Amino acid sequence: MVKSVINVGIIGLGTVGTGVAQILERNQEQIASRVGSKVEIKKILEKPGYQPKADINNSLIINDSEAFFNDPDIDIIVELIGGLDPANDFILRAMKCGKHVVTANKELIAKNGQEILKMASACQVDCMFEASTGGGIPIIRPLKQCLAANAIEEVMGIINGTTNYILSKMTQEGREFNEILKEAQEKGYAEADPTSDVEGYDAAYKLAILASVAFNTRVKVDDIYFEGITKITPLDIEYAKNLGYTIKLLAIAKEIDGKIELRVHPTMIPHEHPLSNVHDAFNAIFVNGNAVGDVMFYGAGAGSLPTGSAVVGDIIDIARNINYGCNTRVGCTCSMEKPVKNMGEVTSGYYIRFHVLDQPGVLAAISGVFGQKNVSIYSVIQKGQGTSEVELVFVTQVVKEKDLQASLKEIEHLPEVKRIGNVIRVEGGKLS
Ligand code: HSE
Repeated sequence: MVKSVINVGIIGLGTVGTGVAQILERNQEQIASRVGSKVEIKKILEKPGYQPKADINNSLIINDSEAFFNDPDIDIIVELIGGLDPANDFILRAMKCGKHVVTANKELIAKNGQEILKMASACQVDCMFEASTGGGIPIIRPLKQCLAANAIEEVMGIINGTTNYILSKMTQEGREFNEILKEAQEKGYAEADPTSDVEGYDAAYKLAILASVAFNTRVKVDDIYFEGITKITPLDIEYAKNLGYTIKLLAIAKEIDGKIELRVHPTMIPHEHPLSNVHDAFNAIFVNGNAVGDVMFYGAGAGSLPTGSAVVGDIIDIARNINYGCNTRVGCTCSMEKPVKNMGEVTSGYYIRFHVLDQPGVLAAISGVFGQKNVSIYSVIQKGQGTSEVELVFVTQVVKEKDLQASLKEIEHLPEVKRIGNVIRVEGGKLS
C-alpha cells in the first residue's frame, strides 16, 4: 500500500546532513512524484548543545535517542556522523527497531560492512551506502546492479579529493606539498588533521568497499597496501611530465587468476589516460568488466549537496521499496572467498630517482644489480654533470615488487649512491 508520507530520521546534521535536508526540501515535488508519497524528515538526532543552523527546521532536532529510535512513524534512519563509535551501535539499533538504514560512513562499511548487512538481512530491512564511496558519483549501485552481468576484472580510481586537489596544484604550480596543504587547510579544502586523506587511509577504506562489491568477496582494510602522497616532490612531478606521465593517488583493485590485488599509492599514469585529466577535488572511478569493457564514473567525490545527492538517492530507493512492497533488497553480495595477492607478487613499472656521484661505472653498477634481480630497464635519464651529486632516473619495465625492493636494498649500499630520492609506481602506457 502506498503511504502518504515516508518519514526519515537523520543522525547528524553536519555537512552531509545539511545537504540531505536541503535536497529533501528543495526537490520535494520531484521526489514525491518519483516515490508516490511525500518524503519528510521527522526527527534529527544531534548531540546536546548542538548549534542550530540557518535554513534548517531546527524544531526537528532532538537529543533523546530513545525517542528517536522508538518513533513508530520513522521508516528510514540515515546515519551521517561517520566513524565507528557510536555509529555502529546506532545502525544496529535502528535495524533492530525495524528501520531501514542509509549511511555515508566509509570507515564503518569498510570495517564492519559484513556484520551490518547480516543484521539488515536478519531484521528484514534495507541498508544502503552509495555515499560511502565517491561522494556524489554513483558506483555502488552500478556495480551491484547495472554491471551485475559482468565478471569485474579491474577497478581503478581517484577516490580522494583532497589529495587530488593537492597533486593537481603541485602539477599546475610546481610548488611543494606542505605549502599547498597549508593553503588548502586555510581555504577549508583540507581537514585540520589531514592524516586520513594524505596518508591514504581514506582511499583504502573506499577501496575496501569497492573491491568487496566488485569482486563479491569480503576485502579487509588490512589486506590493502597503501601509501600516501607526502613524499611527492615538485622534482618528481617535473620528471613525470617530461616522461609523459601525471602523478595521481590511485586506488587499484584487480582480479587476476582468482586472486585479488589491492593497493593505494601515488602512481604515474600516461597523460592520455582518462584518469590523468581528472583535476582538482574531483573523483573518477574506472571499471573494466568482461562484457561491458571499460566504463568510467566521474564527479564530485565530496561536499554537502553531491554527497547528499547519493544519500537521498538511497532514501528514494528504499521509499519505493516500502511503497510497492517489493523485495528488491540486494543485501550483502560478498558470497565468495578469494585470496589476496601478496604485495611482493604484484607487478608494476617503477620510476626510481637516485642521487649519485658523477663518476664512471655508476650506471653500470646500478644496472648490474637490477639485471641480477630480474628488473628490466625501460629508460634512464641523467641530469647534471661534474657536480658532487647528480640525479639518475630509471623507469623499469613491468617487474615484480619483491624483485624491485630486493634490488633497491642492494643499490642503496653501493658507495656511489648517495640516496634514493623516490620510488613511484607506473601504470599503463608503453611498459610491458
Ligand atoms: N576526505 C574525503 C576526500 C572526502 O578528500 O575525498 C570524504 O570521503
